[in-house]
Amino acid sequence: MDDLKVKYLTQIANASDEAELEAVRLAAVGKKGEVALKMRELGKMTPEQRQVAGPALNALKDEINSALLAKKAALADAALDERLRSEWLDVTLPTRPRGVGSLHPISQASEELTAIFAELGFSVQEGPRVDTDWYNFDALNIPGHHPARAEMDTFYMHRAEGDDRPPHVLRTHTSPVQIRSMEKMGAPLRIICPGGVYRADYDQTHTPMFHQVEGLALDKNISMANLKWVLEEFVKAFFEVDDVELRFRASHFPFTEPSAEVDIRCSWEGGTLKIGEGDDWLEILGSGMVHPKVIAAGGIDPDVYQGFAFGIGIDRLAMLKYGIPDLRAFFESDLRWLRHYGFSCLDVPTLHGGLSR
Ligand code: DAH
Repeated sequence: MDDLKVKYLTQIANASDEAELEAVRLAAVGKKGEVALKMRELGKMTPEQRQVAGPALNALKDEINSALLAKKAALADAALDERLRSEWLDVTLPTRPRGVGSLHPISQASEELTAIFAELGFSVQEGPRVDTDWYNFDALNIPGHHPARAEMDTFYMHRAEGDDRPPHVLRTHTSPVQIRSMEKMGAPLRIICPGGVYRADYDQTHTPMFHQVEGLALDKNISMANLKWVLEEFVKAFFEVDDVELRFRASHFPFTEPSAEVDIRCSWEGGTLKIGEGDDWLEILGSGMVHPKVIAAGGIDPDVYQGFAFGIGIDRLAMLKYGIPDLRAFFESDLRWLRHYGFSCLDVPTLHGGLSR
């Protein structure tokens, strides 16, 4: 019995995993194990022999069982320690960008331009996409008969029959936010308003919904020179280059006097759109000195305050910056396109940290 005890306690101590331990258990105290066989031999013994051997065998069985239990617990502890060591995870790490989708180039461009204008002292304002024709047209010096209304390919909202109030419109530009901002904030003021606008138009560079960013700066001594400087600073910062070739063209808008449109030099060669080279020009914005009537419509005295305004096509900026040749792809919700042209949503664009890198 002493031999059995030494043999099995040693095997138990040496078992390196649960399977090995179970094999030892079966061999020792299983139904057909060595201790059970010895128990069976008790029958052939004399009563005196049995009185000594019986309790001794039971004691041996108990001792082996408790050694098995203790070893089992020790093995489980060791296994847990090993798991804790190997399955270590740093929960303070940032999430993997891949798993949280990617940012649409228009969202990226909007964040980039907001960062740039913020640095120039412009705050962000928003206005409704469904607006009255007063905000979208009249207040901007586009009266009912004005040809600009027809030129804009406006979407008019449906009115119930018999309701002869003028219909609401899907805003055709972000300019109505100029009026709302003046009403709300007074002067002086410096704001931008990025957002969606709508026109019935569709080809490679036009979609029925697109994005503009409106800018407005009002103060007592603002001139066209301030406008030109702000636009040049903006374009250089946005395209992350020291020099961009811009073309200021005299133009006409009812809400500015004088007015200028700005084009940027580009090429379309080989189906890719490239900025700063080639013989083509892409119009990216309209601008000018705010018409006194518009300042008055915003509730501000045009004899005291003056300023400049601009409206930039965000989608076109994004096409130029990221070399995307067809505007329609922006709105097709093709995930493969988005994965290719999209941006990490965890890299917030800033001027010091880099806009799109
Ligand atoms: N609202 C004009 C458009 O959609 C763009 C524009 C031109 C905005 C001149 C302005 C501006 O603020 O001054 O075509």
